[in-house]
Parts: sequence; structure tokens; C-alpha cells
Amino acid sequence: MGNTEGNLQWVERARRHIPGGVNSNNRALPWPMAIVRAEGAYFYDADGNRYLDYHAAFGPIILGHNHPAVNAAVREAMERVDLVGTAVTDLEVLLAEKISEHVPSAEMVALCNSGSEATYLAIRLARAVTGRPSIVKFQGTYHGWHDAVAMNVISPPERIGRKDPLSQGMLQEEIDHTFVLPFNNLEAVGELMDSRSDEIAAVIVEVIPHNIGCVMPKEGFLEGLRTITHANGSLLIFDEVVTGFRHDLGGYQRICGVTPDLSTFAKAMANGYPIAALVGKAEYMERLAPGGGVFFAGTFNGTPSSVAAALATIRELEVGGVHEHCFQLAEMAANGLQEIASELGIVMTVARFGSVFVPYFMEGPIESYEDLLRNDTERDIWFRRSMCEHGVFMLPTALKRNHVGAAHTEADIAMTLEIARQVLSSMPAHVS
Ligand SMILES: Cc1ncc(COP(=O)(O)O)c(C=O)c1O
Repeated sequence: MGNTEGNLQWVERARRHIPGGVNSNNRALPWPMAIVRAEGAYFYDADGNRYLDYHAAFGPIILGHNHPAVNAAVREAMERVDLVGTAVTDLEVLLAEKISEHVPSAEMVALCNSGSEATYLAIRLARAVTGRPSIVKFQGTYHGWHDAVAMNVISPPERIGRKDPLSQGMLQEEIDHTFVLPFNNLEAVGELMDSRSDEIAAVIVEVIPHNIGCVMPKEGFLEGLRTITHANGSLLIFDEVVTGFRHDLGGYQRICGVTPDLSTFAKAMANGYPIAALVGKAEYMERLAPGGGVFFAGTFNGTPSSVAAALATIRELEVGGVHEHCFQLAEMAANGLQEIASELGIVMTVARFGSVFVPYFMEGPIESYEDLLRNDTERDIWFRRSMCEHGVFMLPTALKRNHVGAAHTEADIAMTLEIARQVLSSMPAHVS
């Protein structure tokens, strides 16, 4: 954020030809920035400013930017085969086998290109399997931009308990068929199932709602969802688009020991390459076309460069050490931040799981989005923006998670904490 001339020029040109100047809703920043290079734990803007990256592109970057083994695998694939779009490639078979080997619910694997496509397909499949129209999601979770799920994420207080669509232009009937319940509240799920048992095709859940930072499922919550959905003949869909491969090669489902009917994966699976997977029980997955009647298609599905990137990323994670390294450094960052805040008398609760951490400017306990309404949004954004000004990129949006990757070092975390101390020491009593 030092020099701005180069950034300004690119941003002005972007605004002329790209709506809003960015290609995804949450990429807009309150200062001019264009990225020209990324390597390891850092990225660089058009004026040569360097940022230590905790954003990780919303989660895919787990090995570090431009990872040599991933790049080599992509290069090798590119030189051998590009998109042919008929039959199947050897790479797709290898990846489906790999995912099935690691992920408990993955008896079969269907590849697509983004998390949104995977959740769309999961819901369509659940509707076909059950013959029912409606789904359940939770307040604070995000499952992509399509009409069935694009609602009730970071809702303003007055929209809690009612529908809060993210977009204009969504089909009202689709919105009506999605029930939104508070996370970690099994009673609410049970009551809805009792009153509308023959309507609910599926419950879709971010196993850890990382789209509002890091809110952990209470003990028994995911197990309870398993029991209730099973009893009701509804499908349980674990959205592991963020948690998959980042927390464990088998996803959070391997950690918590609850096996859903269907699960979605993307992000950290391929260290930044566009690919996603819907996985699940064979009896359901076999309903997908062409074997079954649930239409499933995509010109770019299983594109070789992305599949090669996924195979290389999984290989790196299998070697071992990556998760341990990331978890240890994230713990150092989280504990360090918490200590600094308490020394300075700043109200803060740092939540962490695995490589993900987030400082909330509030007291705990935090069990649902509703609790996060107590977060001091102004302080949260002020802190993040100040960290960015000092070259430590934490997305300047309240509640958004930070990710530690294999390329982060202990020295990076120590530097982050030193800067956080400076920043928090100068935080005004009232931020507006
Ligand atoms: C949990 C979760 N599910 C689904 C999605 C949608 O994925 P994509 O942005 O690849 O469409 C996201 C994106 O952030 C996500 O966090």
C-alpha cells in the first residue's frame, strides 16, 4: 500500500471493463490494488509492495503460491494431454481413486470446477433421490452463489430468523424451498423435520462454518444431524469445500467420525487450480448421468491441468508434515494474538482450528452466527486494514478467516505478531 501509481492504473482500467473492477463479489478492496506476482507465503502488487498472505485466495493455497511440485505436475500434464472432452483421462481415474482412498464418504467421485457447482449438483441429486423439494441450511454458512443456498451468511441483525438472499434476481420459489436454521441447534432441526418430514430432501452444512471465521460444531451436533436425517429419510450433505484437505486428507468427516451421504470438496484440494468434487455413497452417486437420470455435465469437468494439480497437492499432503507445520504455526499465531490483546486490555477471542485462525473482537462463547452479532465490526476491519498497511494481508472484511500454509515460516508468524502488537497498541478506543 506504499506506492500506488501502478496499482491505480490497473484498477482504473479494470473498472472500465470488469464490473466493479473484480471478478468475484468479495475481492473488492477499499484501496487500489492489482496483483502481479505470488510466490510461497507472499504476493506482490503492481507497485512492488509485498504482502504476507493469510487470505490464501479464500482457502485453496495450502502449500504456498506457485508450488514447484504442483507447477511441475501441471506442466507435465500440459505437455502430454489437454482438454479432449470425451471418455475419461487416466488422470481423472487416478484422482477419483485417491479421493476415495482418503475420504470416508467417497465411494464414488464426480469432478466439476467450483464449489458452487458441487453443491448445486449435491442438492439436485438429493432432490432426485428423495423426491422431495426442500433443503435446510444454517445461518452463517456459505455454499456458493446459486439460488438454493445464496442466503443468510453474514446477515444484519434484523434479517436473522427470516430469509436474507444475497442477490437480486433470485427465484422466489427456490428461496422458499430453503429453510434456514441456527447452527449448533439440533432442537430446531428436529422440530423442522417433525413438522415437514416429507418435504426435506437434504440438510447441507459447513462442518465448521469457516465463512464466518471459525465456529466449531458442538459435541454431538454433527452426529445429531446424522441421526435426524437418517431417521427422516433425508440426505446429509457435508460441505467440505473449505475444510477438505486443509484440515485432513479425509476432510473434517475423518476427524469427527461422522459419515455423510454426500460431500463437496474444492479449494485446498488443488492448491489454487479450479477443480471441485461431489463425492458420496455409490447408491446415490450412480444416479448421476449418464448411468442415472440426474443430469450432470460440464465442458471443463476434469480438465487435465487441474486434475494434475490436485494429484500433486494430495501427493504433497500425503508425504506428511504439511498439516502439522500449518497447525503448529496457526496455534502460535492464535495464542500470540490472544496474549497481546489481553496484555493490552483489548477484548478479543481468537478462534482456531487446524491452520485457520480468526481474531473476533468480542468475548466468547461463540457457538453460532447469532453470537457473532456481538463482534465489534469497526475494530475488526480497522485491525485487518492496519495489518494490510504493514504488509500482512488479512482480508479487510469482518469475520473472515486467516489461513496458514506450508510456505509460512516461524519467522513470518513472529513478524505478524510484532506488527499486530504495534497495530493493536495504536488502536483508538473508539473506531468508527
Ligand atoms: C463452504 C463453501 N462451499 C462452497 C463454496 C463455493 O465455492 P466456489 O467459490 O468455488 O464456487 C465456498 C466458497 O467460498 C465455500 O466456502
